[in-house]
Amino acid sequence: MKFKSIALFMGVLWVFLLAFTLLINSEPKDADSTNADEKPKLALTPPMGWNSWNKFGCNIDEELIKEIADAMVESGMRDVGYIYVNIDDCWMAPSRDEEGNLQADPATFPGGIKAIADYVHSKGLKLGIYSSAGTKTCQGLPASLDYETQDAKKFAEWGVDYLKYDNCYNQGRDAVERYKEMRRALDTTGRQIVFSICEWGRNRPWLWAPEIGNLWRTTGDIRDNWESVMYILDQQVGLAKYAHPGAWNDPDMLQVGNGGLTTTEDRAHFSLWCVLAAPLLAGNDIRYMTEVTREILTNEEAIAVNQDPAGVQGYKVRDQGDQEVWVKPLEDGDYAVVLLNRGENAAFMAIRANEIGMPDVTSYKVRDLWAHEDKITGGRIDARVPSHGAAMFRVRVISPSN
Ligand code: GLA
Repeated sequence: MKFKSIALFMGVLWVFLLAFTLLINSEPKDADSTNADEKPKLALTPPMGWNSWNKFGCNIDEELIKEIADAMVESGMRDVGYIYVNIDDCWMAPSRDEEGNLQADPATFPGGIKAIADYVHSKGLKLGIYSSAGTKTCQGLPASLDYETQDAKKFAEWGVDYLKYDNCYNQGRDAVERYKEMRRALDTTGRQIVFSICEWGRNRPWLWAPEIGNLWRTTGDIRDNWESVMYILDQQVGLAKYAHPGAWNDPDMLQVGNGGLTTTEDRAHFSLWCVLAAPLLAGNDIRYMTEVTREILTNEEAIAVNQDPAGVQGYKVRDQGDQEVWVKPLEDGDYAVVLLNRGENAAFMAIRANEIGMPDVTSYKVRDLWAHEDKITGGRIDARVPSHGAAMFRVRVISPSN
């Protein structure tokens, strides 16, 4: 009797295990199935484009966005990599439609967002849009908290390629949960949408955002002055290790060409954002920019540093008060170097290649990425750097050994 019940028990257990194994293995694995926990492979180098906020604030309409798209092409910006045309806050109507959908403001965007997306796409560019992980945007317009699925679906239907997702009116709810919910909603659309997390560095986003988004703001808003650029730079120390292809620290959009910085400061700002592997989102009126501004924004050698496929964020290797040295190791073994002078007077600055992590050899090619000139040196990287200025170099080992 005892033997019989043990045998029965073993039999039932076997049948149960067999059924369980079959169930696991029979899960459908069609070609489209994706791992829900895995972000789409997007923004493998820092995103490049333009955003309306820094220059225009709420003063935007569909004509402006189309003209900007035209200017992206005519100025050569598209062809050096500026692909995203991003509409920031204030594109939406003050209320949702009768089905609860976000809708474009009929006064400023009468053609709707889909028409703009089509226009931008016809120029070989991509469209970005903005919402907040709160009940309202920072300008008090309808936003996406608790409407994530519905709004993400609309963005995808319209052909949106990039979402900047802000933090205003968040009702004190957990940031990770709010941003995760939009990640999930974007995934269910099946459209590849770059996800830009904008919670101003409040919740140490570098610790959780790399799994959820493609970039995350590390600070409050940049302003159009040198102190703001330097203040933001200082907040980037220690964050390099969190960046990698598909996941970038975002020290905020560029102020180059907006008038609050001198040309020297504009060049320094751009050089630093390039070594930081920061998203390069121009924030000026590119329809009417000066030739000098255009040359800064389209410096292909500086952009190549920013877009280096290794995706290593640059870091500070020397800090002598007003004089700092920032470096970024590149995929081919070269190093990008920025000599930054924050002081009020010009300064002669110098560092050696073997002090920045490069191998100790007898000769190096030191290429000045603003003068576009090469110098062969025994390892010296130096320049007279103007007040509030930066020199930027790409350093390469020439002789293989010492
Ligand atoms: C916040 C963001 C800015 C901008 C504005 C728009 O301040 O940090 O980048 O998007 O909202 O209202």
